Amino acid sequence: MPLISHSPDTGTWLLNTRGTSYALRIDETGAPCHVAWGPRLTLRETEELGSPSGPPASSFEGRPPVGEELPVDSGTRYGPPSLQVRYADGSRAFEWQPTRHEVLAPSPGTAELVLEFRDRLYPLEVALHYHVREDSDVIERRTVLRNAGDQHLTLLRADSAAWTLPPLPDYRLSHVTGQWSAESQLHRDRLPHGETVLTSRRGLTSHHVNPWVMLDSGEATEHHGRVWSTALAWSGSWRITVQRTPDGRSSVTGGAGHEGVPVPLAPGEEFTTPVFAGLCTDGGFGAAGRAWHSYIRAHVMPRAREIAPVLYNSWEATGFDVDQAGQKALAERAAALGVELFVVDDGWFGGRRSDTAGLGDWVPAPDRFPEGLGPLARAVHELGMRFGVWVEPEMVNPDSDLYRAHPDWVLHVPGRQRTELRNQLVLNFARQDVADWAHGWLTRLVANHGIDFLKWDMNRSFGEAGWPGQPDGADRLWTRYVTNLYDVIDRLRADHPDLRIETCSGGGGRIDLGILTRTDQAWVSDNTDAVDRLSIHHGFTQLYPARAMSAWVTDVPNQMTGRSVPLRFRFHVAMSGLLGIGGDLAQWSEEELAEGAALVAEYKKVRHLVQHGSLYRLSAPPPGDAPTVVQYAADDADEVLILAWQRGPRHGCPRLPVRLAALPPGARYRDSRTGVVHHSTVLTEYGLRLDLPAGDWASTAVHLTRVPEDLPRRQHSRHGEHGDL
Ligand code: GLA
Repeated sequence: MPLISHSPDTGTWLLNTRGTSYALRIDETGAPCHVAWGPRLTLRETEELGSPSGPPASSFEGRPPVGEELPVDSGTRYGPPSLQVRYADGSRAFEWQPTRHEVLAPSPGTAELVLEFRDRLYPLEVALHYHVREDSDVIERRTVLRNAGDQHLTLLRADSAAWTLPPLPDYRLSHVTGQWSAESQLHRDRLPHGETVLTSRRGLTSHHVNPWVMLDSGEATEHHGRVWSTALAWSGSWRITVQRTPDGRSSVTGGAGHEGVPVPLAPGEEFTTPVFAGLCTDGGFGAAGRAWHSYIRAHVMPRAREIAPVLYNSWEATGFDVDQAGQKALAERAAALGVELFVVDDGWFGGRRSDTAGLGDWVPAPDRFPEGLGPLARAVHELGMRFGVWVEPEMVNPDSDLYRAHPDWVLHVPGRQRTELRNQLVLNFARQDVADWAHGWLTRLVANHGIDFLKWDMNRSFGEAGWPGQPDGADRLWTRYVTNLYDVIDRLRADHPDLRIETCSGGGGRIDLGILTRTDQAWVSDNTDAVDRLSIHHGFTQLYPARAMSAWVTDVPNQMTGRSVPLRFRFHVAMSGLLGIGGDLAQWSEEELAEGAALVAEYKKVRHLVQHGSLYRLSAPPPGDAPTVVQYAADDADEVLILAWQRGPRHGCPRLPVRLAALPPGARYRDSRTGVVHHSTVLTEYGLRLDLPAGDWASTAVHLTRVPEDLPRRQHSRHGEHGDL
């Protein structure tokens, strides 16, 4: 089946992904209307499906509020508009007039449909883009808006896309909410009637809600059922509105910016929205997650095929108190543990001795690093590790040389207070001079000090978001800030192809498909308590892959929660993503160092499964007495890793075997530690008995490899194919 086909007779376009179809039709008014999104269809079959638009049921109804590909603000439409425009004469509205269409093949195995329209009266051009791929069911949609006239106009709302769901007896919404140090808490609730708005007004993606939603009929489980999901590729303010109408329909519209932040369009100017990607899957939330993981690894993250190194980060060990001797001593211990990337966190630059001063002065502190970072970088490299540093390029402390020299560089409104959060102000990255300054010092820092890795942080939300001196500045900065941020990171990566970057914003405040397009991993939470991490990881991996999920083993009692759990439990939790270590190694006993080294070595044997395999959540985090269990399987199912964590077993609570997922029948698997051989049918249908030790905070890792004589005949090069360090 071609990726994109067209019936000129009915005006229908059919997009075929790997296993689904998406159909739309230009209706008699010229408006692009939704037809279908679900299992595979032929063009002939789509003819049987009417589009949701049709004659109004009464004089109070107008056009149905659900069913247009990009509902506009005009005529008798009363749903949440995806496109709302104000022209120079103050009038509003957009009436669809199709102008042309095009099918592009941007690269082998992909196709892009471009449907172009203009307003019937005013010179606003709108192009809807649909990008599909043979190897994925994700459809990427975006909209390009162009002012083709000679007067200014204003986009009061310019969403990327609207997604229409089929009629279902009920609708349920899944999404994550949170706050600093408690990100990615999963909610799965009946979708209320009316409009449910998920938004960030903070200038960044936010800890508080992440820009994705999943919808189902209320019957999907982890392993069964159809799920429709959408995710926005944008790292600034955003808004997603999920609508449920009285006549039983549902749709999702989403895009950059929150309410009241218009996008000005000067004559000839074009605005390209971020991608708002959509996915329809069968097989429950687990299958939806795995489809997103594969797509994100293959088509979003730049280097996800690489194996991520085991990292050490100094933040919880030394705080702001970093110097050459202390970091070198930590690096020696880290190297002995098997760490491959050593990262110096905050405190290495300017007058940064606490969070009150120095931010913005990006030169190594002379009293702490008298000869710069070079000697430490060399020492780390000589220990066989890569070298990374923490940076926060978008921020400044008022107590800094940078702010004293450029007080006008921050977001501000003349005459108003400049509200500090964490004693810092936001540099206006929308200004080209600020973005160029950041790129300049970053590229020099990386080049001059042999830096392999940056942890790129962003530790506050916008406030007094003004851009004095720039016409429409207070409107434009919300998008220009983000596109300039992207541009600086892209330039930096182009300058230094071997540089790897971790996205961080006080933990997980800026994680989305936009930032992941240009970063290699994400610091998902400042909360390193292994128990709290279980639910954070559970929410994170609903959409994002473990390949992006950075997790450290830190000391106990945990600095944030005061909880103490065994080292092994902390390791097993961090091993479910990109293993890092963040404890004060100077304080670790010989036994802890030995246990840590053994667990690092164990992780290295299985990390290709965690980072590149398929994730099955076999048992969600408590409440309840059951352990939390996840499975990572190689794509060919030749190897499987099971990680399980038990809070505190209740006496008398049955210890049930855990049924594994997706193993081929008739195969046998050997437990690498015990040598015991299991039959796959027993593992999937009757279950594996977990060897969880007694007592609180028990955990285990079970690595199963397929018995060679059961393997189908094929070449094996498991470890060679990953571009190891
Ligand atoms: C943020 C990060 C932390 C650490 C500190 C340093 O809070 O999320 O991991 O880097 O900044 O100030």
